[in-house]
Amino acid sequence: MDAINGTSAKTATLNIGDKSWELPILDGTIGPQVVDIGKLYGQTGMFTYDPGFTSTASCESQITYIDGDEGVLLYRGYPIEQLAEDGDFLETCYLLLYGELPTAAQKADFDYRVTRHTMVHEQMSRFFHGFRRDAHPMAVMVASVGALSAFYHDSTDISDPQQRMIASVRMIAKMPTLAAMAYKYTIGQPFVYPQNELDYASNFLRMCFSVPCEEYKVNPVLSRAIDRIFTLHADHEQNASTSTVRLAGSSGANPFACIAAGIACLWGPAHGGANEAALKMLGEIGSVERIPEFIKRAKDKNDPFRLMGFGHRVYKNYDPRAKIMQKTCHEVLGELGIKDDPLLDIAVELERIALQDEYFVERKLYPNIDFYSGITLRALGFPTSMFTVLFALARTVGWIGQWKEMIEDPGQRIGRPRQLYTGAPARDYVPIARRK
Ligand code: CMC
Repeated sequence: MDAINGTSAKTATLNIGDKSWELPILDGTIGPQVVDIGKLYGQTGMFTYDPGFTSTASCESQITYIDGDEGVLLYRGYPIEQLAEDGDFLETCYLLLYGELPTAAQKADFDYRVTRHTMVHEQMSRFFHGFRRDAHPMAVMVASVGALSAFYHDSTDISDPQQRMIASVRMIAKMPTLAAMAYKYTIGQPFVYPQNELDYASNFLRMCFSVPCEEYKVNPVLSRAIDRIFTLHADHEQNASTSTVRLAGSSGANPFACIAAGIACLWGPAHGGANEAALKMLGEIGSVERIPEFIKRAKDKNDPFRLMGFGHRVYKNYDPRAKIMQKTCHEVLGELGIKDDPLLDIAVELERIALQDEYFVERKLYPNIDFYSGITLRALGFPTSMFTVLFALARTVGWIGQWKEMIEDPGQRIGRPRQLYTGAPARDYVPIARRK
């Protein structure tokens, strides 16, 4: 990888007591330089300590770049705004996986390959029937994506590039089918098979919202909105779920198992679960008049309440995805003729008040992508429990791209962090009869 091999001559000097060490400083294409501490333990017998990884680059990557201070997000160098406005989701998938935008022929071939993998093994439907009807669809997704490795043995050999690519395409293609099945199962409707004449987003909407007894016509404005939502969520460099996928993959686990691990991590309310939590919060606030009360609670250190959909570990500026999401939200509501959505009114007012409040300004807390996505997805007809599922569907390509990049790196090793041990020192076992 060019950027990192082009190590600058610069080094950082680490002084401990009367000894000092020179640590190489590496340059990326853009973004902060990194101090290479790979040999630190061997040389000094010390680890570094960075819980939450706030100052740690866990890997080298060429896929996604974020400038959190400026509010910039690039996939393979292309701004998210341009990809979301002018491209489509499968084009973004191709870009993330292969590194370049496809030519027309490459795009047609990729669309064809993805389309030909949309069905899932018929026995998967029986697997679904083992779940309780009221299971959270994310629980169903963790299990069913993990179970793909029990159905597609011919694409689990990670040392074979062909199998890696088939597994990648299979997951991008099958996630909408599985997500729609998870939804249909919880509402007691029959599973709808994919329809390969439709584009990716339209096919997903049809699998979620059509029933066998009626004709279903896809609304192009809504399918375009879903496609854009997928593009916005496609990748986000080394976030918690992506790092989970990389760590799981570093042991050589098969790609389906690794993506299932990513889905499990995404489920948490501090990560992908925030869109569900944000909408619930807007409902709890209930009216514009009650906003000050909730702002007060968000600022109170003794109250665990946080403004969901606000703040981000990396963005200390408006999340660029949130801007596009806000626009998409208005488009969807406009298309559906929803003139007054009380939750949207609360969201707009909450954002306005928070952006002027000293607490939020000081801490650089801005709306993130999840702030408006819940309102949009709800208007599209999805229940809150499906919000994170849609995030997982879209993020699958990012996870796979990052997993592939790691597996294809000749220097790849198992990820194995160390710790600062603060437990009991060595002591002798006491037989139970002598314990007090
Ligand atoms: N409401 C109120 N205060 C907040 C919030 C919030 N949403 N977020 C951060 N703060 C405060 C926090 O209390 C702390 O204050 P102080 O310095 O006085 O102790 C300060 O801001 C820094 O917060 P932090 O927890 O150290 O920041 P972090 O980088 O560890 O957390 C975060 C980032 C996204 C987990 C957090 O902002 C949060 O919990 N937000 C709400 C959940 C959310 O919307 N998550 C979606 C993230 S975007 C999609 C995704 O990545 O999945």
